[in-house]
Amino acid sequence: MSGLILDLKSNIDFKNVPQHIAIIMDGNGRWAKKQGEDRIFGHHEGVNSVREIVEACGEIGVKYLTLYAFSTENWNRPKDEVDALMELLIATISLETPNLHKKGVKLHAIGDIKSLPQGCQNQLQESIDITANNTTVNLILALSYSSKWEITNAVKQIAENVKQGVVNPNDINANLISEHLNTKNFPDPELMIRTSGEHRISNFLLWQLAYAEFYFTETLWPDFRKNEFYQAILSYQKRERRFGLTGEQIQNN
Ligand code: IPE
Ligand code: IPE
Ligand code: MG
Repeated sequence: MSGLILDLKSNIDFKNVPQHIAIIMDGNGRWAKKQGEDRIFGHHEGVNSVREIVEACGEIGVKYLTLYAFSTENWNRPKDEVDALMELLIATISLETPNLHKKGVKLHAIGDIKSLPQGCQNQLQESIDITANNTTVNLILALSYSSKWEITNAVKQIAENVKQGVVNPNDINANLISEHLNTKNFPDPELMIRTSGEHRISNFLLWQLAYAEFYFTETLWPDFRKNEFYQAILSYQKRERRFGLTGEQIQNN
């Protein structure tokens, strides 16, 4: 196994590693059901994948990793599961912070953080403060996040600024909109990975993924580990990103 990991890793072109990777970590529930366990068991196991992928980012130089951990729509799940997820979030962040800090990881959160239970908000803030000066990997947790929520808020803020006379409608452009999103301090992801065989975006980073490459895998999140992460990066590196140009234009440049 470690030989395989080494092989895949040594094939990576380190000059062309995505700066920012976004992941829809999906399939925890199905992973648990497959072994006759409760869905929450899958969420617990998913934490081990998170740890490995964050570590892999540090090893190969991915500077930003955004993980979709809880969506606005996930609030509609059964109360037991939502409560268990919030508890798991607090416990995981608290337990992992020393390790993240040691590895130079800087923690961020995007989403409607105020809608999280107070204990969760406190733990999150504590870990964000502890890791604030780190520079190795920016780990961005999307919590109570949805892209339509984020864009709606941006529109409201911009409209308010127009009303106050601070912004001229003619000055509204893509940059101004980006600056009003939760992700304003991060570059757009070059690569988006979704596990568990679902081929949809589920209200994740609609604006920011405009030109991202997508990688879909049948693997369920608790089974998604370093070697498959490296496979995703190798797949990314084989692609030609054209941004609307022709293939000839890209190759002649
Ligand atoms: C992803 O796994 C984790 C969260 C959405 C919190 P799921 O819980 O969606 O697992 P499946 O898709 O039901 O298998
Ligand atoms: C998306 O997964 C949200 C997270 C991974 C946190 P879901 O499992 O909630 O997405 P849908 O409902 O299948 O689209
Ligand atoms: Mg799911």
